[in-house]
Amino acid sequence: MWKGRFSQETDMRVQDFSQSLDLDWRLAKWDIRGSLAHGEMLAKQGLISLEELDSIREGFQSILEEIDRGEFVPDKELEDVHMNLESRLTERIGDAGARLHTGRSRNDQVGTTMRLYVKDQLCEVKEGLGDLLEALLDRAEAHREVIVPGYTHLQQAQPISMGHFWMAHFQAFSRDLRRLEFARDSSDECPLGCGALAGSTLPLDREYTSQILGFSRLCENSMDGVAQRDYIYDVLSFASMFAVHCSRLAEDLIIYFSSEFGWVKLPDGFCTGSSIMPQKKNPDVLELVRGRTGQVIGHMVDLLITLKGLPMTYNRDLQEDKRGLFSTFDVLSHVLGVLPSLIKSVEVDADRAAESFSDGMALATDVAEYLVTKGVPFREAHHRVGSLVGWCVREGMSLFDLTVEQFREFLGEETGDDLLPMVDLEAAVARRDTEGGTGFRQVSRQIDKGRELLGRI
Ligand code: ARG
Repeated sequence: MWKGRFSQETDMRVQDFSQSLDLDWRLAKWDIRGSLAHGEMLAKQGLISLEELDSIREGFQSILEEIDRGEFVPDKELEDVHMNLESRLTERIGDAGARLHTGRSRNDQVGTTMRLYVKDQLCEVKEGLGDLLEALLDRAEAHREVIVPGYTHLQQAQPISMGHFWMAHFQAFSRDLRRLEFARDSSDECPLGCGALAGSTLPLDREYTSQILGFSRLCENSMDGVAQRDYIYDVLSFASMFAVHCSRLAEDLIIYFSSEFGWVKLPDGFCTGSSIMPQKKNPDVLELVRGRTGQVIGHMVDLLITLKGLPMTYNRDLQEDKRGLFSTFDVLSHVLGVLPSLIKSVEVDADRAAESFSDGMALATDVAEYLVTKGVPFREAHHRVGSLVGWCVREGMSLFDLTVEQFREFLGEETGDDLLPMVDLEAAVARRDTEGGTGFRQVSRQIDKGRELLGRI
């Protein structure tokens, strides 16, 4: 393409080193979309003829068919997807193809193509995220009345509704949905017409191409338009937080599924066995969800490092934005391909969960709060229950086994018969009725709100 200026052929090693075809060929469809819009604008502005526009359209149509049939084998010597498509077009339609790059640089072209691609990919990710939210709601409804231990420091803390657990993860993913929308909005800006960096001497109509391509606005500054990649950062930042949330969910389920906890049941279809230990049923899928998270975070950091020292405007370093972005979309699509169905088939062994409460200590806060209702200051109540707990631990007693008299001995005169019904898992959960608490009513409220949110996306 640039032979005019050069008196030597490009060294083969340079061709191989600098080509981006093995990455950017996946952009072909979106690149053609951008080129067609550019061609239409050129024709409207009288920079090419209507006949030329027609042959550009026909040329690209047959190229698209060739790609679909898998017959278009791109050539690395032509460096990237843009040059491959342009040169094939020119091969097919001659002069009109050679006019297509009028007023355009690959710098604004690649920016346009990438943004179109990103917007489409985010639509797919959004669908997958919707499926995941739906799966969490489904489980929250199914397990609303199932009582399981809640943990802080991974130490048993208080009993919760398993529905509450699912909704906690739902909340995190619903914030990711907002992050996704933000990234989509950052990508929704059209750089076409920015040229190499400074715009064009030709009468281009940027607004027109931007509208044809469905962008909501133009990049306001041509230098920024070709130099900036923050929209990719926004995608990777959304993706990183999302991956972290998937990883935390995976980690919870791995722990609850472990032999020692054991109250979460994963379906056989989503587990794998061992080549040597016949008894094994391993949560490999969840481990891989957790394991791939690092790559996504790595790609975000990689992009920031690529950008931090770059002078204005386009530098070839920017070509490296693709590897991490594409790999991130691949990870997201793999994770979202499997995680919603896995979640939907998670069951809880309620009896096993109940057994893990056998010492009753998860109800110690309830006992202290009972004393508060009898007028005991909370710090004092905490102290009294603490000494009761200490005694139980030493004697190997469970809170569930104590008589009112035994309670009274440690808790004082304020202790009445009305304490015993409160030393009960079901009551403990139901009574946590503060907004956002684990009380069954509150969980239902959250689920309703969650359904509303799903209805809106
Ligand atoms: N393939 C390049 C990229 O992905 C676009 C080409 C711009 N190249 C150039 N030398 N100005 O960024």
